[in-house]
Amino acid sequence: MAKRTVRDVDWRGKRALVRVDFNVPFDAAGAISDDSRIREVLPTIAHIREGGASVVLGTHLGRPGGKRADDLELAPIAERLAELLGTPVEYVHDAPGGLARERAETLREGDVLLLENLRFWPGEEANDPAFAQGLAALADVYVNDAFGTAHRAHASTEGVAHLLPAVAGLLMEREVAFLGRVLEDPVRPLAALLGGAKVGDKLRVLERLIAHADAVYVGGGMAATFLAAQGLPTGTSLVESGLIEACAAMIETAGAALHLPTDVVVAERIEAGAPTRTVAAGAVPDGWMVLDVGPETAAAFARELAGMGTVVWNGPMGVFEVPPFDAGTRAVAEALAESSAVTVVGGGSTAEAVARLGLADKMTHVSTGGGASLEFLEGKVLPGIAALDDA
Ligand code: 3PG
Repeated sequence: MAKRTVRDVDWRGKRALVRVDFNVPFDAAGAISDDSRIREVLPTIAHIREGGASVVLGTHLGRPGGKRADDLELAPIAERLAELLGTPVEYVHDAPGGLARERAETLREGDVLLLENLRFWPGEEANDPAFAQGLAALADVYVNDAFGTAHRAHASTEGVAHLLPAVAGLLMEREVAFLGRVLEDPVRPLAALLGGAKVGDKLRVLERLIAHADAVYVGGGMAATFLAAQGLPTGTSLVESGLIEACAAMIETAGAALHLPTDVVVAERIEAGAPTRTVAAGAVPDGWMVLDVGPETAAAFARELAGMGTVVWNGPMGVFEVPPFDAGTRAVAEALAESSAVTVVGGGSTAEAVARLGLADKMTHVSTGGGASLEFLEGKVLPGIAALDDA
């Protein structure tokens, strides 16, 4: 990455403002259900502390819309972070203002302070210069390790980077290295495996990867719009009628490089244990919807992907949260876990699926970014990265 990183800074006696993405999921009981976004920044925090600096951490959680929300306060995150770091984490219910400033100024070498959810203030998402200035006043150096939020031009991800020396954290560096390599210098053959519910969410990345990859495999609910584009029946599947033409154009452009399901699992409703049928992709019955790729497709995708040099995967093959519609996702995930290909998994629901299957550590890289990794793969410039100091 042509950006300065935490390794380029002499941290002795400094205070770092580190933007992290601790936007973690919670279960119904209010406990953190997946702390990988916290674990993934531990190396950056350790690097800065070991270098002799103190650390002020800032994150958002959810979308409180510029005002305080009790259920989006960061106490559970502060607690988990302290456990993982094995050191106390001071948590202030303030971000840029007086109290945060006061606490930041008392920090000693190695101390860790967590600011309140930055999106409790409207200035954060508005990228308000005064809010950014308040954040900048808390530290000597700004570090962005929030890859998952790098596609947002907010005060803590973009504005503040213009006010302090601004460097990338180790997670940011790793994300950009793996995702960047897919676009710039992949081990070929390069395959893209794309799924998820909607073509609309993946249209630009599909177009970009069809032009760039050696093979593109499409599964998930979005395959239905591709079936419709071939004039095939889709039953009650979600078909994005405004995108049928775009799908037809992709089928035409990609030719043999585009692999669509040859069989699909259908049901009348999305419900665990609902009666299912496996039918040819061209024979979805009236009143039934596509909820997973079929076993023939899953086996073919798995076999072909295993022989690739690089596989970039974004989007599950079916409704993996609801068995039995998880079988296609499981089959391709297992094949990728065993293959010697460089496997780069997008964040969001794909990362969640791989984690649930216990296969995350068998992949070369699992991104912490959902929207950010998609925008990166579309080839967009992410404002949170662009604003950092050039190397
Ligand atoms: C994410 O979970 O994708 C990031 O934390 C960004 O969150 P946002 O979509 O609310 O900006």
